[in-house]
Amino acid sequence: MKKRNVIIDCDPGIDDSLALMLALSMEELLVVGITIVCGNGPVDMGFANAKKILQRMGRLDIPVCKGAERPLKREYVSALETHGADALGESFLPEVPGYEQPMDAVEFMERELKKGNLSVIALGPMTNLARLIQMAPEAFDQIEELVSMGGNFRSHGNCSPVAEYNYWADPDGAALVYKTAARSGKKIHMVGLDVTRRIVLTPDLLEYFKRLDGELGAFVQAITKFYFDFHWEWEHLIGCVINDPLAVAYFVDRTLCEGFEAYIEIDTEGISMGQSVVDEKNFYGKKANGVILTKTDSLRFFKLFFGRLLKLKEQKLDLLEMLVRP
Ligand code: RIB
Ligand code: CA
Repeated sequence: MKKRNVIIDCDPGIDDSLALMLALSMEELLVVGITIVCGNGPVDMGFANAKKILQRMGRLDIPVCKGAERPLKREYVSALETHGADALGESFLPEVPGYEQPMDAVEFMERELKKGNLSVIALGPMTNLARLIQMAPEAFDQIEELVSMGGNFRSHGNCSPVAEYNYWADPDGAALVYKTAARSGKKIHMVGLDVTRRIVLTPDLLEYFKRLDGELGAFVQAITKFYFDFHWEWEHLIGCVINDPLAVAYFVDRTLCEGFEAYIEIDTEGISMGQSVVDEKNFYGKKANGVILTKTDSLRFFKLFFGRLLKLKEQKLDLLEMLVRP
């Protein structure tokens, strides 16, 4: 089977880290590199956390390039209250020294995209992609497919009544990326809160994971405990929504989500700053620049998530049928 080359642009981040672990466990993917953007935590923290994940997965062969330290225009606002003081659930895993790369995220993206046959899975604010457009628009146009965890259609926001964090944290960056996609006829696959809110890692699922692999399960527990507590405190949810891994799973298996094509614009100011405005009824008569995902199958996602991370055949994961929330 031909592997698909991807760059994962992310802000690790608890769910970004689970997404990286999943991506590195999927034989369908060749992770050409990881680029870091300021988001859940400052960019240096995201760099440090990405190295910790690569070390745990035995993949410190994959380049990790640091990108934007702040959004395109607005001030930087982290999500450390959600991801903990270390942006990795206050697991405070040992630092991985060095591993500095000779180029920054945008230079790396430009160099790799110009080789062709490369897609991008964006799991954080879209600042690096926006800067790529500003510095090397022809490289952006060469992105084979762009899957973005971000935005929301009918689901409420998580940073304001109408805005999701990745697009709210850098609305100008997201707006430029969607506008550029519209200009170049590209469609961004928007894996937003409408589908990711269905992907809830529960205590039972975590316990099952630990029973199947105690060591890896303990690692996942270490980085998610803070996230469980956050979800209980702020959303009275027993479990935690793991947004980013769905974007990786969807990139590999498009049947995991259903949706529709439409024109999307990102609002950049005022009370609805960061809102992904989806022109479902085509009021503006503009060509679609997005695929908005609205339905997903959480059981099929967790079968893939567990199966790949634990290297188990799906039929061995029979308990999932009982444990996964429909
Ligand atoms: O709104 C959820 C998104 O914002 C996720 O990607 C999370 O990691 C944060 O980046
Ligand atoms: Ca993220």
